[in-house]
Amino acid sequence: MSSDKPRSYLRVRDLSIERTQVLFSRATEIKSLLQSKQKITSLQGKQVVLFFSEASTRTKMSFQMAAQRLGAQCLMVDDMLSSSMSKGETFADTYWTLHALRPDLIVVRCDGDSPLDEVAEKTESPIINGGFGSLAHPTQALLDVFTLRENFSSLDGLRVLLVGDIDHSRVAASDIRLLKDLGAEVRICAPDVFNQKNSFGLENFTDLNKAIAWCQIYMGLRVQFERHGTDTNASLSKEQFVDRFSLSQERLKYLSSDAIIMHPGPVNWGIEFQEEVARDLRFRMWQQKENGVYVRAALMEALLKEKA
Ligand code: CP
Repeated sequence: MSSDKPRSYLRVRDLSIERTQVLFSRATEIKSLLQSKQKITSLQGKQVVLFFSEASTRTKMSFQMAAQRLGAQCLMVDDMLSSSMSKGETFADTYWTLHALRPDLIVVRCDGDSPLDEVAEKTESPIINGGFGSLAHPTQALLDVFTLRENFSSLDGLRVLLVGDIDHSRVAASDIRLLKDLGAEVRICAPDVFNQKNSFGLENFTDLNKAIAWCQIYMGLRVQFERHGTDTNASLSKEQFVDRFSLSQERLKYLSSDAIIMHPGPVNWGIEFQEEVARDLRFRMWQQKENGVYVRAALMEALLKEKA
């Protein structure tokens, strides 16, 4: 159930659909203001901590950019070798240490075993989930849907295809939830070994060419080699994956001229996408990355406004 006044944002349903739409409107305003070099000071005097115990480029930098563009100070704990986690300090102890410094907001990226829900229950600083193991990446879902809204007049019935490593993708988990809540039709094309959970009961195309012909949005997902056990690697080789699930020049001809191609990044070039995909006019990954700043800015503003 969506909460009417969320203090933290851990999963997409922590914002009601109505509030998500308001957030998108504000993100549009912020985009327009920042693109025309106008100053926004809505977070002046605020301090935002980015606590990233897992690697990130896009999410971390777009939160930092967003916080600073809105006038906040941004502090980071993102180098696990130089933080006291390298000496064995736990995620929870590190979180409460940062919390004790009284920041206004903490953005957290962590592995799926970290007690994110437990700290969120007790925290006095709102938390934003910046990526939680394979479980959730709600701000990626927000920026993906925001990007879709810029490309399509309505999300209702929009045919979205997610391709590849569904089970290990926190982006897939959050995108599917939000897209379905907004009325999109979501299907997947994935090897069985990457779709064992099938928690949303989505139709899984066995033939990528047919899936491409069906969709209006082709969303590639990174093959998350670092999250695979040895069994997964043994049962599906890279070559087999590329043969059946890689988007290539040859396969692009099945994609409608009105369709778009997305990927949350980072891309394993030569695996999810062959390099020619980046030159296709339907490729929207750079728009997704830029939109991350505006959507995350709108979210921080909304949470801090409620806190004030
Ligand atoms: N899409 C995404 O979350 O990228 P990063 O891991 O670089 O933040």
